[in-house]
Amino acid sequence: LCTGPAWFVFAAAGCMKLARLMKVFVTGPLPAEGRAVLAKAADCEVEQWNSDDPIPRKELEQSVVGAHGLLCRLNDHVDRKLLDAAGANLKVISTFSVGVDHLALEEIKKRGIRVGYTPGVLTDATAELAVSLLLTTCRRLPEAIEEVKKGGWSSWNPLWMCGYGLSQSTVGIVGLGRIGQAIARRLKPFGVQRFLYTGRQPRPQEAAEFQAEFVPIAQLAAESDFIVVSCSLTPATRGLCSKDFFQKMKNTAVFINISRGDVVNQDDLYQALTSGQIAAAGLDVTTPEPLPPSHPLLTLKNCVILPHIGSATYKTRNTMSLLAANNLLAGLRGEPMPSELKL
Ligand code: NDP
Ligand code: DGY
Repeated sequence: LCTGPAWFVFAAAGCMKLARLMKVFVTGPLPAEGRAVLAKAADCEVEQWNSDDPIPRKELEQSVVGAHGLLCRLNDHVDRKLLDAAGANLKVISTFSVGVDHLALEEIKKRGIRVGYTPGVLTDATAELAVSLLLTTCRRLPEAIEEVKKGGWSSWNPLWMCGYGLSQSTVGIVGLGRIGQAIARRLKPFGVQRFLYTGRQPRPQEAAEFQAEFVPIAQLAAESDFIVVSCSLTPATRGLCSKDFFQKMKNTAVFINISRGDVVNQDDLYQALTSGQIAAAGLDVTTPEPLPPSHPLLTLKNCVILPHIGSATYKTRNTMSLLAANNLLAGLRGEPMPSELKL
């Protein structure tokens, strides 16, 4: 199915009997569960970009013309130009993600288009990855593995390959939402002493489970030993972690971002990591994605970079695809969506 950039069109058996099929465009192949749901939709004609490489923008603009529904990915920018290209037929956008920063929400709302997304079903997988990345970064695992491979392991030495541990630490969470809470829940048993969090307003009910304290972002930066960024990307969070923020951090502190690359000013992060301002960083998300192999951050031993794999378990991606397909069809049929974004 995914051997090259070519169109793939499918419609369920019997669909030709219907007077009018709704046109659906899918910007890339779906895992089996989502694919099966769309294949059974007798009222839809589904066109799909048949490659795991992102659909080129020009191709996308042509493909959405006349579509009633669009099932997109987080790297498809659904802006005014694309909405204009799609035209007045477009009634539903279903994104295969919980993040919606790639969607021009104001414009979408103005046009009365409904939006489906995938909250909740990826929370556990993403929190699990965040904790893995945190431990990998603070205990310097990639560096240690590399030393073993290249013969740098001479003998046991008291301070060789030492890092920082979670026991008795203070953890600061930027965005105590679904994923932020799931991360805190997983970190608590490591012996974290204190949780701090920040956001638009306190969330006393959610925070109670961790006795987490709502603090201004500057205080979170200054007092945390580990900072995990798990907020959504919005105009207010774009560039939230920049020079000022890193300068306030302890020089023994570890910074983790699983949110979106644009929450971080990467030049400032590079400075903070190379000047000893902070100890280390672990990033599952970057700007751009993919990060070019020549990027300066990739030269640093104290920076661990993953290719945006927070939700990447087979089960989670299948469930996301199922939810995205069901959101799309429900929206097209004028029914309540399983997960509709309130605009
Ligand atoms: P939620 O909506 O549950 O949480 C979003 C959080 O962002 C809330 O805690 C909210 O806090 C916080 N937030 C919003 N505005 C601000 C602000 N100005 N300052 C600080 N915090 C703010 O979403 P999820 O937890 O489900 O997902 C969060 C994000 O994680 C997604 O939007 C996506 O970008 C990213 N993600 C990344 C994945 C990966 O693979 N790396 C996988 C899945 C998600 P409050 O409401 O209290 O202000
Ligand atoms: C999302 O869903 O927003 C993630 O970034 C990928 O699962």
